[in-house]
Amino acid sequence: MRQLKIVMISSECVPFAKSGGLADVVGALPRALRDLGHHVIVILPRYTHANGHMRDARPFLDTMGVWMGDTEEWCAVQTTVTDDISFYFIESNKYFDRYALYHDADFNDYQDNPRRFGFFTRAALQLCRDMRFVPDIVHAHDWQTALAPAYLKIWHHDDPILRKAASVLTIHNIAYQGVYNAAHYNYLGLRWENFTPDKFEDHQQINFLKGGIYYADVVNTVSPTYAQETLHPGFAHGLAPYLNNKGDHYLGILNGVDYDLWNPAVDQLIPARYTPHDLSGKAICKQELQRRCLLHVDPDVPLIGVVSRLVHQKGLDMLAWAIERIVNDMRVQFVILGTGDKSLEWFYGNLPGRYPGRIGSYIGYNNELAHWIEAGSDFFLMPSFFEPCGLNQIYALKYGTLPIVRATGGLQDTVQQYDETTGNGTGFKFWEPAPHALYNTVGWVVSTYYDRKHHMRQLVQAAMAQDFSWNKSAKLYVEAYERAILNKILA
Ligand code: ADP
Ligand code: GLC
Repeated sequence: MRQLKIVMISSECVPFAKSGGLADVVGALPRALRDLGHHVIVILPRYTHANGHMRDARPFLDTMGVWMGDTEEWCAVQTTVTDDISFYFIESNKYFDRYALYHDADFNDYQDNPRRFGFFTRAALQLCRDMRFVPDIVHAHDWQTALAPAYLKIWHHDDPILRKAASVLTIHNIAYQGVYNAAHYNYLGLRWENFTPDKFEDHQQINFLKGGIYYADVVNTVSPTYAQETLHPGFAHGLAPYLNNKGDHYLGILNGVDYDLWNPAVDQLIPARYTPHDLSGKAICKQELQRRCLLHVDPDVPLIGVVSRLVHQKGLDMLAWAIERIVNDMRVQFVILGTGDKSLEWFYGNLPGRYPGRIGSYIGYNNELAHWIEAGSDFFLMPSFFEPCGLNQIYALKYGTLPIVRATGGLQDTVQQYDETTGNGTGFKFWEPAPHALYNTVGWVVSTYYDRKHHMRQLVQAAMAQDFSWNKSAKLYVEAYERAILNKILA
């Protein structure tokens, strides 16, 4: 096997900056690729609001000029090395000295997001040139860096540093495409002859992801089922024809998870550690979670946890229709952690006051509490309308917290349905995206908890034995990289 040189360009990465699962993936995949013998560097924006890990970076380039379509921008570059992987941060206060990654305190997207991430993507490629890093692969993630494959082909096709680089674009969520006013097009420097419906044009606007799909040598999404689903118009938010055009250059590769961070045997954030052989620590985690979230402390009542962005995708408006009937009819507790839509924040924020001791909620972002919920709950609920992969249900399996999921995308691929006759399975699935289906499934879950304790024990053991570590998926990415290199040569 030959060693590949890979540059990963992303807007998020654990432990530096995170809004969702993209950060977890970009945090873990480079290490798995390194373990397979490849050379990976990661390029990120330097967000000034981000946590201490990013502040530890040291200066690398004092100034770097980046040509956009109609102007030259200037930035600096910082670097840090973690786990033998070099991270580079593009520093531009104009673009990255903000309240959060993508939006202001009221959840309004920044108006200049197309410029922020268009600039960042060009700067990342410029950095490869300035430091003479000759990549075999440029790996872009989501709309934010989807222009990388396009810039490679439009601008760098005869550049000695970048001309050989093949590109892979990973779609973590096709609902977010980066669609913006065409007034930004000159700045992005993508050339007007490419402003056509098969590339960047989308109802007279610019569509970053669509352009990325066109230009990338290989496109993938983050589970096999979501890859299939997005070939059908109902799931792809308008992009199904373009994904179909990619033929076998469009793949589904299931995300792995990082068991150094998400594993009850080693997790330092939770109240007590535990293993499949000794679950006493899980009981402590449940008790402490109930206490922290002001629930009745009771080891014998089933506790259902939710950690989620509060958005339509995640089915939490569906849960809003069902949850009061559930707690009125069944002996069960809920704890909900999330942030997002204001109406859902308001709804879930008010529930504990109306159902004291039975529903706990925390509106905000809290990584430690996310770990506590994974560990201390009996069940983990993800009733998503669609789910490209989903990581929380995979974490939940490792914590012996049985997922209750709608059978879509990566949820379908990672959870095995409970079989009431044998006790086999790892969780509970339902199909119909409707409150009554959710209600009925929770009823089934609660009756299993009280009436089939031997099956509960069997399910927990089977869940904890699941292995979704990155090793297998990283090998599939290497295959995708090889395929991209071949496509580029043959094109
Ligand atoms: P998505 O990326 O669509 O939000 P995933 O399940 O892939 O969904 O990943 C979500 C990640 O973000 C998980 O690591 C989860 O723990 C974390 N997360 C989501 N919301 C919160 C929150 N409010 N507080 C802490 N962590 C959160
Ligand atoms: C997106 C998806 C989620 C996936 C994550 C990481 O945010 O919504 O399903 O797990 O990306 O790939």
